[in-house]
Parts: sequence; structure tokens; C-alpha cells
Amino acid sequence: MLLLSGPNMCGNEWKYVKDCLDTGWVSSVGAYVDQFEKMSAEFAGTKYAVATSSGTTALHICLLMMGIDHNDYVITPNITFIATCNSIKYTGANPIFIDTDENTWQMDLNLLQEFLETETEQRENVCYYKKDGKRIPAIMPVHVLGNTCDMDRLMALAAKHNLVVIEDSTEALGSYYKGKHAGSFGLMGTFSYNGNKIITTGGGGMIITDDETLAKKAKHLTTQAKSDPFEYVHDEIGYNYRLVNVAAAMGVAQMELLPSFIKRKKEIISFYKDALKGVGDISFQQVSDDVNPNWWLPTIKTNRQRDVLKILNDNKMQSRPFWVPMNQLRMFKDNIYYNKTDRSDFVYKHCLSIPCSTNITDAELEAVSNKIKEVY
Ligand SMILES: Cc1ncc(COP(=O)(O)O)c(C=O)c1O
Repeated sequence: MLLLSGPNMCGNEWKYVKDCLDTGWVSSVGAYVDQFEKMSAEFAGTKYAVATSSGTTALHICLLMMGIDHNDYVITPNITFIATCNSIKYTGANPIFIDTDENTWQMDLNLLQEFLETETEQRENVCYYKKDGKRIPAIMPVHVLGNTCDMDRLMALAAKHNLVVIEDSTEALGSYYKGKHAGSFGLMGTFSYNGNKIITTGGGGMIITDDETLAKKAKHLTTQAKSDPFEYVHDEIGYNYRLVNVAAAMGVAQMELLPSFIKRKKEIISFYKDALKGVGDISFQQVSDDVNPNWWLPTIKTNRQRDVLKILNDNKMQSRPFWVPMNQLRMFKDNIYYNKTDRSDFVYKHCLSIPCSTNITDAELEAVSNKIKEVY
């Protein structure tokens, strides 16, 4: 099976993991965790980075630190991976879904603006949903597939309506908007290192921020909120959400490879764009000139989505449809979904991601492209 986006362990992973095993530093304290954090902050251009057990737990901690609870709403796009919304639900809050732009597949900012202007009101610099008077303290934009929306506009809207921005930049390691790294716009951003991401630690995540207090608090909360170095004193409800050293060792090795992985992802998208040019109605994710994406997961849009999915998967070339839109999931069917013509459903029914592991060969890319062409 040609994996959709599999791990590529071609650097110092074995060496650094062996070092952990040889020295016994395998758990949540260890030099690789610190080094991985340092490398991540440097790469993203933030002052701090705090390693977590996953991207989902990173998002959960960010929301907790903002005091978000069951009386609140958090705005997020309707097309995202479930983890975004799960992290919101863990706090007891409810996501408000904004429809997606059918070309960039990011949150539609026209709809966001309209929603904020017509459905919310400000009281003492706090945003409330007019209909039930509940607070909307935060917005969680998702940089879907490593692309971003117009971040200037999003940040301005958030500032105007007093929304804290927590970026679900889990897919956007190596993506930039006007030269600034995704995840570094909001108060906090996050990365994921699960097996299909541009770099992987098997499972893991990161919170990035410029705020020292939040960085310290994140470390505290992810390590059971222990407040005394000797006694088992804990000053609040904490979480066992810290990344372990043996995973961070992989992370350090993968960070060393990240520039080459980004380069390869860009070669892969160029290859597909050339090979599939003019084939049927196929088009690619629209990216503005302000965005330099990591092209983490090349994805095409076509009326023949199910046919292409079938021919590729039947031929052991793993390909996947887009996520089922959040409003279509059982848990969220009664949530607020702000839309005009339900573009999320359109994106879901037309888009599919195609094989793009960083160790895929050009011959394999050609084989995938040829299989796709057979459909048309
Ligand atoms: C958009 C999005 N949000 C959140 C996550 C959660 O990350 P993780 O799987 O590391 O918990 C992922 C990745 O799986 C994701 O793609």
C-alpha cells in the first residue's frame, strides 16, 4: 500500500531514541523534550514552545488557560478534523461553526464577519451570542491542510469583537502568511506530530506562544499541576499531557529533516499540478499570494471524487475523502452552523487527498497521476 502521508524516519531517529533507551531517560523529563521545544519555538519564531502528548491535548490546554467553560461558545470552521471540536467540548463549551470557503477550504471570513456583526453583541468588551446571551470568548481558526485564511482580516475581526485567537495550526508546521509562521498570530498556536503529519513523533503536540506566563502555566497544567518539587502538592486540577522524552527524541531528529520534508512536499504538489493539468474538472486548493503553505496533504477537487477514490484505493494507493463536516456529525447536529449555501457539504463531496509521503518516488507520483487520469 502506498500510504497517504506516512512517516519518513531517515535521519537521526534511531540514534536519539537509542540514546533515551540506553540512558533510561524515556519519560516526561529529559533533554530531548527541552531541545524539541527550543527547536520548535525557533522554527516558528515564537518565544516559547511547550511539548504536549498530542495536538488535541495542546488545544485543550490552550482553551483551559483562557478559562473557557460550559457556558461558553468557541467559533471554529465547519470543515476541520474532529479533534478541534473535541478539544472545545472537553471544556464543556460548544463550537459555533462557520461555513468554509469552497476554494481555499478555510473558514469563510465574509460569513464570519456577518455572523459577528449580526448575531453577536459586545458588553463590557466581551462578545456574547445575542440569542441566548452566552459568552463567545475565543475563536479557533484551523489552517486546513497547511493553507491559511487572510490572517490580517481574521486578526482584525477577532480584535474588534474581543475574541482570543487560539490557532489550530496542527497541520501548518512550515506554513507562512506574509512571512510569519502559522500559529504565531494568535495568543497561542499548536502543532501535531501524529503519524500522518509533516514530521511525526508517533503521537505528540506543541503549544507555541510569545507569552511567558501562558507558557509556564501550560507546562504546569500538562504535568499534573505539581507545585512543589519534592512534596506531592498540586495547586489545581492538572493533566498528564506532557510529551515523553523518547517521543521528543524522534521530534528532534524530525526537526532536523523538516526543511527537506517541506521541500519535498512542494515538489510533490508541483508534480501533481503538472501531471493533472487539464485532466477532467480537477482543480487544487486555492492559495493566496500572501500564503506560503507547507503543502502537507495535496488534495484535489473534482465531480468524480468517489470514482477517483475507488480507483486509487483499489490499486493500493491510499487516498481519502475530506472530513465529514462537523454539522453533519451526530454530536453537533444541533450546534449553531452559520452558512448561506452549505459549502462545507460541497467541499466534503468533491475533495480527496492523494498519496504524498515525503519518501514517495517520482515514479510512484507518476503512477498515481496515471491512475487518476484513467477515470476521465
Ligand atoms: C486540524 C487538526 N486539529 C487537531 C488535530 C489533533 O492532533 P493530534 O492527532 O495530534 O491529537 C489534528 C491532527 O490529527 C488536525 O488535523
